Amino acid sequence: MKPFYVTTPIYYVNDRPHIGTSYSTIAADVLARYHALRGQQTRFLTGLDEHGLKIARVAESKGMSPQQFTDEMAGPFRDTWQLLHCQYDDFIRTTEPRHKVRAQMLWQRIAARGDIYLGAYEDWYCVGCETFYTEKDLLPGNLCPQHLKPVERVKESSYFFRLSAYTDKLLAYYEAHPDFVKPSGRFNEVKSFVREGLRDLSLSRTSFRWGIPVPSDPEHVMYVWFDALTNYMSALGGPSEPGEAPLYDRFWPPHGDVVHIVGKDILRFHAVYWPAFLLAAGIEPPSQIWAHGWLTVNGQKMSKSLGNFLAPEPLVDAFGVDVLRYYLMRDIAFGQDGDFSHENLLARLNGELANGLGNLLNRVLVSIVQKNLGGRVPAPNPSTRTAEDDELEAAALRCCKSAAEHLDQVAPQRALEAIWELVGAGNRYVDRTEPWALAKRGESARLGHVVYQVLETLRMVGVMITPFMPLKAAELRQQLGLDPLLHTQGLDLWPSVFGALAPDTQTRPGAALFPRFDKDQSQAALQKLGVAKAPETPQKTKARPMTTEATRKETEPAAQSGDASPFIEFDDFTKVDLRVARVLACEKVPKSEKLLKLSVDAGDGAPRQILSGIAQHYAPEQLVGKQVVIVANLKPRKMMGLESHGMVLSASDETGLFVTTIAGDVKPGSGVK
Ligand code: MSP
Repeated sequence: MKPFYVTTPIYYVNDRPHIGTSYSTIAADVLARYHALRGQQTRFLTGLDEHGLKIARVAESKGMSPQQFTDEMAGPFRDTWQLLHCQYDDFIRTTEPRHKVRAQMLWQRIAARGDIYLGAYEDWYCVGCETFYTEKDLLPGNLCPQHLKPVERVKESSYFFRLSAYTDKLLAYYEAHPDFVKPSGRFNEVKSFVREGLRDLSLSRTSFRWGIPVPSDPEHVMYVWFDALTNYMSALGGPSEPGEAPLYDRFWPPHGDVVHIVGKDILRFHAVYWPAFLLAAGIEPPSQIWAHGWLTVNGQKMSKSLGNFLAPEPLVDAFGVDVLRYYLMRDIAFGQDGDFSHENLLARLNGELANGLGNLLNRVLVSIVQKNLGGRVPAPNPSTRTAEDDELEAAALRCCKSAAEHLDQVAPQRALEAIWELVGAGNRYVDRTEPWALAKRGESARLGHVVYQVLETLRMVGVMITPFMPLKAAELRQQLGLDPLLHTQGLDLWPSVFGALAPDTQTRPGAALFPRFDKDQSQAALQKLGVAKAPETPQKTKARPMTTEATRKETEPAAQSGDASPFIEFDDFTKVDLRVARVLACEKVPKSEKLLKLSVDAGDGAPRQILSGIAQHYAPEQLVGKQVVIVANLKPRKMMGLESHGMVLSASDETGLFVTTIAGDVKPGSGVK
C-alpha cells in the first residue's frame, strides 16, 4: 500500500478554533489513525494560514504587528488540537522560513515555464474570503456572495497566472482521475465551473506587505491563496528534486496518496487553482480532495456577528473528548451539511455509547466474567456451538470488512454504522444466549464459549473504534486485559479473523465506559453550556385572540365606545399596502442597539430605505437576499436622524423574533393579500 498523507485546511488565525474547524481536523485525524492502524506509512498535516490582508487588518485593529498577532494565535490552535486528541505529525505556519522558501520555489518553477506574467488588476476583492470577484459574481449592493459584505475595488499592478490556458488541461485531468474530487456531486459542480472557461488569476498584490515576496520582484507579495495552498507541499520539503527531501519523495504522488480534507467553501481553490498551479509547475496534483459539508449549530449558521461560534472546550468538559469525536463523525454524513445538536449528542451518548457498547461490556465482563469465571477470559468450546455463534461470527467479519471499506472511501459515518451493527449483534447474542442463565444452571462449557464470543466481539470493536475514540478504545482494551495501546510496527491490525483473543487473559474491569446522563444531568450539562430549554411557560402572544361578538360579550366587559367591533371592513384592509420586498443591503444603525437600516427593492424602481428594530435578533448579513413582507404606505418616520419608508413585518414570542419571509421567488413589489 502507498504511503498516506492527509491534510486539513490551514486555518486563518483571526478566529480561535471552533466546532467547524474542529470537525475538519477530527475527520483528518480519524483518517490518519485508521491508515496507520492498517500498517500504512501515514502523515497528518495541519497548520495556519497567517498571511494576507485579512490577518494584517485584524492585527492592526488589535494594535499588534501581524507576526505578534499570529504568534499569539498559534498557541490556542495547538492547544485545541491536543485537547481533541488530533495527533498531527506536522504543524505548518505559513510565516515559517521553510514554507516561504518553497512557496517561492513553486512560483519560480511556474514562472520559468511561462505561465506567470505581469499585468494590472482592476476589479473587486473580498478580504473576508481573500477572493477576487467580477461584477457579475456579486450580489446587489456589491456584496460578496459568501460573506454578504461589501467588496473592495482593487486597482494595482499584479502578476497573473495563466489560468485560462488550463481550462482544457484541467478537464482532461478530471476525466483521467474520476475520484479526484469527492463527493461526486461536488466534482460535477467543479467541472461545470471549469467548462464555463477560466480567467487568468491575479497572483500578487502591491498595496500591502503582509505576504511572501515574489522572488524576482519583492515589491509584490504573493496572493495569499497561492501561498497557502503551497503549504501541503512545503511541509514535506517540496517542491524539490528527487533525493533532496525524503518526506516529499515518500508522500507526494506518484509515490504517496495525498488526501486534502477541506470544507465545501474552499473547494474551488483546491480543485481548480491548486491542480492548475501544479500542472503548470510540472508536478503531479494530489490524489483526492474531499469536500465535507457545512455545520450549523442547533439550526443556526455560526457567524461572528451572531457571536454563536461553538467552542469545543466546554463540550469536551461536559461530555468528554471521545464522545464529542464520536458524535461529530457519527451524526453528520461526511460530504453533506449537518447540524450540531446538543440533544442529538446526548441521545447518541445515552443510546449507542452507554446502552450499546458500554452495556455490552458491562453485562458480560462485570456481571459474568468476574462473578463466575474468576476474572479470566474463558477458552472457547467449539463443541457447544449453535447457529447463534455462526451468526455473530459472520456479523463480526462482515462488519469489520464493511467498516474498513467505508473508511477507505472516507465515509466515517458509515463506518461507525457498521461497527455499531456489530455492537447490536453482540447485545442480541447476549439476549438470546442468556449467559446468566447458563451460569445459574452450571452449564460451564457453553458459558465459557458464549462469554468468549462476546469478549472477542468487544476486542474487534475496540480495534475499530480506535481511530474515532482513541481514549475509550484504550480503556476498553485495558478492561479486556490487553495492552491499551495498539503497536502497529507496520502491521495491518484491522480485525479480519474471529478468535484472536487469548484465553486465560486476566481482565481488569473498570468504571463504566460511557456513563449515562440521566435527565437531571443532561439538563444541568445543557444549562451549563447555555443551551438548556427554559422551563415551559404559558404562551404569551402579542396579538389579541380573535373573538366573535357573542363570545366577547360574555367574556369581556363591554367596550366604552360604541364602535368597538373587533372586525375591520375589507376596504380597511385594502388600505394597507402590503408588499414583497427583497433586501438588497442591510447594516446596523450607528449608536443604536435595536435598529437595522435596510435597503430594499419594493418594486418602486429605486431602492427604498426602511428602518427596523430587529438588530438584536438578526445579523445584517442574514437578511440580505431575503424576500420580506413590508407595509409600504406607512407615513415616513424619522428615527436616529434617518427616514424610514415603511415597516418590515415580523412575529415574536418568548423564543425570539422572526421576520416574515416569502418562500417562493416572487417579483419584488408584488402585493400580499
Ligand atoms: N485559510 C483558508 C484555507 C487555506 S487551505 C490552503 C481558510 N481558512 S478558514 O479558517 O476559514 O477555515 C476554513 C475551513 O474550516 C473550512 O474549509 C472547513 O474545513 C472548516 N470550517 C469552518 N467553519 C465550518 C463550519 N461551520 N462547518 C464545517 N466546517 C467549517 O479558508
